[in-house]
Amino acid sequence: MMSANADIVLFVDDEPMILRSIERVFLNSPHRIMTTGDAEQALEIVKKEPVSVVVSDQRMPKMQGIELLEKVKEISPPTVKILLTGYADLATAVRAINSGEVFRFIQKPWEDAELAELVESACSRFALQRSLEGADEAMLLAIAEMIELKDPLTQGHCKRVAEYSIRMAEILTVDKNLLRCIRVGAWLHDCGKIGIPESILNYTGGLVRNHSQWGAEVVRLADMGNEAINVVLCHHERYDGTGYPRQLRGDDIPLEARIVAVADMYDAVTSDRSYRKKRTHEEAVAILRQEQGRALDPVLTQLFIDMLSTCRELDQ
Ligand SMILES: [Fe+2]
Ligand SMILES: [Fe+2]
Repeated sequence: MMSANADIVLFVDDEPMILRSIERVFLNSPHRIMTTGDAEQALEIVKKEPVSVVVSDQRMPKMQGIELLEKVKEISPPTVKILLTGYADLATAVRAINSGEVFRFIQKPWEDAELAELVESACSRFALQRSLEGADEAMLLAIAEMIELKDPLTQGHCKRVAEYSIRMAEILTVDKNLLRCIRVGAWLHDCGKIGIPESILNYTGGLVRNHSQWGAEVVRLADMGNEAINVVLCHHERYDGTGYPRQLRGDDIPLEARIVAVADMYDAVTSDRSYRKKRTHEEAVAILRQEQGRALDPVLTQLFIDMLSTCRELDQ
């Protein structure tokens, strides 16, 4: 039986055969599956129904898939968008992903299991956005920790990055609102990784780079404040201008993101990861020093190193 709050998943393709085979894949799905061969009609549906996910073909006679998904975004910003493409549209699809326009793409002919999994990830992305709306701080931390549960090696990472960042921000005596945005932004800085399979996350090429953009999109929809968005969007920018997604340089990178970047790097190198063992505090400091002025803001890095050495002395 269909539950009242089942996700609505809308498929748009001009070929009836394709729609029929999609319906077969989702025959026993808990979601409410809707299909249409007409882009205009798809937009009508999005206006009337709370659609969680839209999967659209790229090549359609009246409107291209990308164009349709852009219009979907205007009508319903939180709806998660997936592009269904043929081989010839690969470049378009990758561009759409890189610009953050679409969540993922799937190529025809698809594997049924892969399509089902993709729709599942898209629904969890939608649920994530929903749960962020109106969440208080305790809920936000719980959500961040739930995201980390998927990877035991990163557990506690977001919370520690937030703690380091907050301590730096307090030394810099930033105002209360910025402090709150830094805390929330640090908790959620990697939330764009949700719904991205391991194989893509651990792939060092282009796609994984987008977790900052996807994450920022989620936090933007959740209305967490601009500085929180900045943290998520810019935590992989580099001080020397070679980072991503926008290659910002120096002080063009928002202060809040430069703070979190230092904390993020320190915590990443002092934790075990699947591809390497954790480093000692001294080794981590040496790595941070190497990155002063390259990946990291030199002044903030010095402040961080001094801050840690003071509290380590106090500990002894
Ligand atoms: Fe990240
Ligand atoms: Fe991180």
